[in-house]
Formats: sequence, structure tokens, C-alpha cells
Amino acid sequence: MATNEEEKLALPVGVTLDRFIKSHQAAFSFATGELSQLLRDIALAAKIVNREVNRAGLGDLTGALGTANVQGENQQKLDVIAHIRFGRALRNGGEVAGIVSEEEENIIETGNNDGGYVVALDPLDGSSNIDVNVSIGTIFTIFRRVSPKGVPVQMADFLQGGRAQVAAGYVLYGTSTVLVFTTGHGVNGFTYEHSLGEFFLSHPRLVIPQDGQIYSCNEGNWHDFAEPIQQYLDYCRQQRYSARYIGSLVGDFHRNLLKGGIYLYPATAKAPHGKLRLLYECYPLAFLAEQAGGAANNGLVPILDVPITAIHQRTPFFTGSVHMLNKVAHCESQ
Ligand code: AHG
Ligand code: MN
Ligand code: MN
Repeated sequence: MATNEEEKLALPVGVTLDRFIKSHQAAFSFATGELSQLLRDIALAAKIVNREVNRAGLGDLTGALGTANVQGENQQKLDVIAHIRFGRALRNGGEVAGIVSEEEENIIETGNNDGGYVVALDPLDGSSNIDVNVSIGTIFTIFRRVSPKGVPVQMADFLQGGRAQVAAGYVLYGTSTVLVFTTGHGVNGFTYEHSLGEFFLSHPRLVIPQDGQIYSCNEGNWHDFAEPIQQYLDYCRQQRYSARYIGSLVGDFHRNLLKGGIYLYPATAKAPHGKLRLLYECYPLAFLAEQAGGAANNGLVPILDVPITAIHQRTPFFTGSVHMLNKVAHCESQ
């Protein structure tokens, strides 16, 4: 007779992303199938980028390209490769009429004017970690366009605000590669099985613990932080919380999502409006945080309610377990 362990070993590998999307069609707004296909396009691009990331050390893909992006930051080769790969997958799919990428100043028109959606993304998050073999990611958000189909996308399609997101997620290229997303009906995570070339549901209905004991912040910026932030960080130390800061937002966010914790990137002297980008870093992670029972704010209001006036706008960013965010707010109100 088979033992429990043997039975476990013989279990099916699980639900593929494709089957999940099919069986949750109702959770994909407007049910035309377009959004489902778009998520498949993103998964395909993620597989391709995953392959590039995995062989980065071999294929002369590490290091700087010698160019700067719109934010004046040095572009790494993989920043540009991921930007190209995601751009192509989204263009080829046909559902996406326009793209905003961290790596490009202006809106990218895909030529699919009949596509009903626009996508904003950070193709490669955590660039400084590429060359040192530390986890990196991709962050994306999807909006239904407000401009009519048939014409090129407009700026207004991207400036709808956080509450208008129809789906958002990230890919973490870590010890394993995971795709985590929401369509506004909870958060689910899928792990990539290399040999089968498929994402499988591995983290169903993710819920972030209400409280945590991990804080993630670049404390090297301590002297630039406002006093309430210093007070909160001091509180974390007094509580003997663990400091965990990867420097890849996706990695820090993912850990805190699973274990409970708080991520803080406050305003600094160098970045008085914060460093992180509202549209394609903070909105999507805030959407995920709220859907997982956590929270995200800019120190004053929920991130999803922060009005957006420019596609590369920056913001201070605090996200994670609700009780920890309440404590920061308490320090700020003193
Ligand atoms: P990106 O690589 O897309 O520019 O993002 C880097 C971001 C984020 O991933 C990370 O949490 C943060 O910048 C790290 O900034 P510091 O090095 O200033 O701590
Ligand atoms: Mn980033
Ligand atoms: Mn980036």
C-alpha cells in the first residue's frame, strides 16, 4: 500500500496558469477573453526574460549598456532586453494599444489601435542586483483604455489613477521564478516549472499577515528621513525586528507578502518626492497589497488614491502589513 509520502509524490503537479485563467474567466473583467490573452502574453514574456536572466553571466548580458533612461539612471543590458522582450510580446498579442515603460520617456504606440488595454511596466526591477546574482523582477499594471478603440492611445489612458487598474502583478526571478497577480479578486502566485515550460499555481489566495516583524528600508538614507520615519525605524529596532533589504522592490515586497512586514521608501534629500515610480511600481504593488489584505500609502493617503499627472511620477512608498503601516501613521501624527 502506498504511504502518504508516496501518495504526495504522485500528486499532479498542479493547475497551470492557462487552466487557472480559463476556470476563472469571470474574474477577468469584461470577459471578452482579451484580458486573459494579455496575461498569457505577459507570462510568455516572463519565460523569455527568465531565460535571459538565467544565462546572464554566460551571454555577456551583465553590466551597463552605457546609456541612461528617462530618469537619468544608467541602463543595464538586461533593463533594455527585458523592455524589448515585454514590448514585443505585448505588441504581438494584439490586445494592447499602448505601453509605458520605465525605460522609455514617451508612450509607446503598439499599432494595435483596436486593442482595448494599455500596460505600464517596470521591465526589470532591481537592476543594481543583476551583476551580483541577486533576485530581480518585473512589475506590470493593466488598464482598460478610456480613449475610443480605433485611434492611437492617449495620455489619459495611462493617467486614470490606481483604482482603475484591472489587473496588476509582478514576476520575481529568484531562487524560483514566480508570477503573482490580481485581477481584483484576490492574489494568486504561480511558480515556473522550467522543464515543463509552464507556470503552476503554487500560492493560491495569498493573504499578507496583519502584523509582521520584518522591516525593509535603505537605512543608509537615515539622515535624510523626516523625524517621524526615524522614530518608526527606531521603534523597529527597539522591537528587535529583523532588517531585510534586498534593494529589489519586487523581492522585498514578495517576502513581506508571504511573511508579514513593511517596506519603506520615504522621501529623501536626493529624491524629495520619493524614488519609486507611481504608475508602474507603486500602483501595481498597492493593488496587490490591498487585494491580499495589506495596505500601501505615501505617508498620507492610500497609494491607489494618489492622483497621477505624469507617467514617470515618483512617490514616497510604504507598504505591507496593516498593523505596521498603522504604526508608521501613528508616528507621523505625533
Ligand atoms: P529599478 O531597478 O527598476 O530602477 O528599481 C530600483 C528600485 C527598487 O527596486 C529598490 O527597492 C530601490 O530602487 C532601491 O533603491 P536604493 O538603492 O536607493 O535603496
Ligand atoms: Mn524598479
Ligand atoms: Mn527597472
